[in-house]
Amino acid sequence: MAQTVLVVDFGGQYNQLIARRVREANVYCELISFQKLREKIAETQPIGLVFTGGPASFNDEGAPRIDADILNMGIPVLGICYGCQLIAGTLGGAVGEGPREYGKCTLDVKIKDSALFKGVKSPSTCWMSHTIYIEKLPQGFATSAVTDSCPVAAMEDARKKLYGVQFHPEVMHTEEGFKILKNFLYGVCGATGEWTMSGYVERTVAELKAKIGDKKVLCALSGGVDSAVAATLVHRACPNLICIFVDHGLLRKGEAEEVVRVFRDEQGMKLVAVDASKRFLDKLAGVAEPEKKRKIIGEEFIRVFEEEAKKVGAVDYLVQGTIYPDVIESGLNHSAKIKSHHNVGGLPDVVDFKELVEPLRLLFKDEVRRLGFELELPEHIVMRQPFPGPGLAIRVIGDITNDKLSILREADYIFREEIAKNGLSGEIWQYFAVLTDMRTVGVMGDERTYDYTVALRGVTSVDGMTADWARIPFDVLQIISGRIVNEVKHVNRVVYDITSKPPATIEWE
Ligand code: XMP
Repeated sequence: MAQTVLVVDFGGQYNQLIARRVREANVYCELISFQKLREKIAETQPIGLVFTGGPASFNDEGAPRIDADILNMGIPVLGICYGCQLIAGTLGGAVGEGPREYGKCTLDVKIKDSALFKGVKSPSTCWMSHTIYIEKLPQGFATSAVTDSCPVAAMEDARKKLYGVQFHPEVMHTEEGFKILKNFLYGVCGATGEWTMSGYVERTVAELKAKIGDKKVLCALSGGVDSAVAATLVHRACPNLICIFVDHGLLRKGEAEEVVRVFRDEQGMKLVAVDASKRFLDKLAGVAEPEKKRKIIGEEFIRVFEEEAKKVGAVDYLVQGTIYPDVIESGLNHSAKIKSHHNVGGLPDVVDFKELVEPLRLLFKDEVRRLGFELELPEHIVMRQPFPGPGLAIRVIGDITNDKLSILREADYIFREEIAKNGLSGEIWQYFAVLTDMRTVGVMGDERTYDYTVALRGVTSVDGMTADWARIPFDVLQIISGRIVNEVKHVNRVVYDITSKPPATIEWE
């Protein structure tokens, strides 16, 4: 089994970020609920534990706790923020409320030969976000770092390999944060850095070969990063992979052709490409309500896939591009439904198969991309910006027609082309055009026009959960606007959406 670190979730907002940083340090980790800690220790034999922050206060009734014996098992522990207070409180120290310490602070290391702070410059900037302080250290512990207002910014019992930091080493604002995390992983836990994407390809291909061999495997290919990487990985191992690509007619300009070119022609996969655009558009005719559109597309997608899968016949395995955040999401928390996201979740019900294969189940999105490069997929597939399952249907506001889709495709293409030409694609997380259902008066030549308004949306984000509108330079916006009204018939006005999420969402529907 790979060396594993358990990142133990106490409800902190940076919990996934901690796990990603550990992975970036080439150490495999899993993010687990504190309630599962004991069973996961038995299952994975971890080389170390990282306790995340969390909103609770250790002294509160009902605050998440752990049994003290966990800290005496000889497994190295790094507690961050709440995790640090938890170690102190659990081992007989005391914590209590103090003034809020938030944002950048100056960290002063007091134990110069601490394994945690090896090679860390002092003073340095760290990021704090707490009101609870360590008032009394547990027996055997010493203060290893302070800030101006925090007398115990870090503590340790090096003999027992127990470390705690009040600041957040995982966030970028903590200058030496990544070094501190690596010190814990390599200097304290004895990690050997075996988690790499080339190693992952090698291991997974060998596992898939052993498990699947030449049995029949089916995969739904959407052209998105996850399904593309999942299919390519399985293709490396299994000669009998069949991919089905359902073109619902709601893709961007040139996209359907590209999927066929890359996967059938370049990668040499067995690819069934189904042009179901007429079927989807017929079903969507006259439907303007966003949730209804999403529902129709989700259901129709499953029906088409079901029919195609029937033609393939019974298969042994069905590939799904599930990634680690989906796994975490279903295991750790439940959030309110804002939109019913369309994905391939319903497929297992309609395919005659024996077992699911989820080769990306352990990976974060950035790891999936690195894996894509490792598999030599083209950059435009690997770095493809997120694209919603219902496609352009939720970017044509109101009812959908072929004409409206054509207008949107052309406008969106110009937007994408200019963003790339101006070297901005790396800076903007997602950008696309929306065809509003508003028509306004304009003048072209000496003629009155009464045509559509196109809205441009560009956002910066980390994971799509929150987003800010991208500050695209005005001169670039001007070029895009000029080109759209000149080159795309039936558009006489272009607007730029300057709303963040929340309160808006990224897509308009
Ligand atoms: P919203 O509009 O909810 O979008 O702020 C957040 C991110 O999710 C994408 N999105 C979807 N992705 N199926 C998907 O696979 C969907 O139905 C769907 N709806 C929105 C959206 O493009 C953005 O990246």
